Amino acid sequence: MGQGVLAQPFVHRDGAFFCEDVPAEAVAIAAGTPTFVYSAAAIRSRYRALAQALDSCASRIHYSCKANGNRSILTLLRELGSGVDVVSGGELARALRAGFGPQDIVCGGVGKTARELREAIQAGIKLINVESLDEIVLLNEIARDLGMAAPVGLRVNPEVRIANAHAYIATGERGHKFGIPHESALGVARQALQMQHVQLVGLDMHVGSQLATLEPYRAGLARLAGLTGELRAAGAQIRYIDIGGGLPVAYNTGDPEPDLVGFGATVAPTVRDLGVELLVEPGRFFVGASGVLLTRVLYRKESGGKQYVIVDAGMNDLLRPSHYDAYHRIDAVRPTGMRVTADVVGPVCETGDFLALDREVDEVQAGDLMVVHGAGAYGYVMSSNYNARLRAAEVMVDGHRHAVVTARETYDDLMRLELEDPNWRDA
Ligand code: LLP
Repeated sequence: MGQGVLAQPFVHRDGAFFCEDVPAEAVAIAAGTPTFVYSAAAIRSRYRALAQALDSCASRIHYSCKANGNRSILTLLRELGSGVDVVSGGELARALRAGFGPQDIVCGGVGKTARELREAIQAGIKLINVESLDEIVLLNEIARDLGMAAPVGLRVNPEVRIANAHAYIATGERGHKFGIPHESALGVARQALQMQHVQLVGLDMHVGSQLATLEPYRAGLARLAGLTGELRAAGAQIRYIDIGGGLPVAYNTGDPEPDLVGFGATVAPTVRDLGVELLVEPGRFFVGASGVLLTRVLYRKESGGKQYVIVDAGMNDLLRPSHYDAYHRIDAVRPTGMRVTADVVGPVCETGDFLALDREVDEVQAGDLMVVHGAGAYGYVMSSNYNARLRAAEVMVDGHRHAVVTARETYDDLMRLELEDPNWRDA
């Protein structure tokens, strides 16, 4: 299953850029810029393609909402049948508000606070993936105080090396902060089995993000399968194997889409043999290529023999280029056919504020609109107010309809939490 079944909603038609049947120019008029624009059709087609690829074993998709926590996207995925994966009390609150039931929710995170653990237990969620013995001890105490039992998965560091990943998005190598080291997992599990208020029902891993091959899934799952046997022998009733997220998206023209059929074929036999329910936590795969960042050119200039395109979206809107050296394709909304090699930079007062360096892009002038592709995942959620910039608007498109689903921030929003008269000198 390749690109064929995945909707490709972002296209130039009659010389202008469209998201589904909505011209980018119409979005800019309605919402201003910079604005994240999401395609419902793209998200739907990606969800359905993955669900189909996993239908030969018992499985549940838990969308990793750290990639994009927009309420409309959460609701869309929930209606398609998705569960959700949360990593903080804030994400749990968002998920509940978007209508997910407790059994639709799994939670993870290497540093959950006591409050977050309590909220997860009280909500009655399906699985709490824990990452250290300290955390299990605390979870057991909190569950005891609540008179409840917490359903626990052990996140194991599968110690798999990932080729080509940026160091910041590799998470499952030996020595990383995530998970319980593979060699300690059995010992930790034995201690968990002694505790009255935790129920050890799952094993979990996350090998990394934007995975170029299926091999890390195969290798990591094989390790979890081995551990499942050992844990069962020790008395654990393992019901879930959670293999995390990591399916990639195509950031550049010609990049392949993930081999979903191969993915299903890689994991399903082991899952069936073990008699468990497979949990997957993709984030980027659903939303990354389902969104663009629409931005307007403010100025052109030349400096030191170099061309600059200065746009109204910066690193505070889309951090990935400067933080991970990430490549995001950039197009003019109305390409003229002329090209220029330029740095595409934002207004933030940092040399590291760029969307593309030394890139051949469409020739543009002040006032023109551009789109930054692949901005649906880890875009808005990683945005900030640096330089007291207002966070962008978010627009959902479905066919010929479009709506602002998150308003652009205002100056009042920036100062909302400040006390009018803090009186700190007399405190
Ligand atoms: N599950 C766990 C336990 C994770 O840590 C992550 C991502 C996911 C699922 C979802 O991974 P995905 O399917 O989206 O690759 N900000 C970075 C990515 C950080 C990913 C962190 N964990 C970026 O912009 O590339």
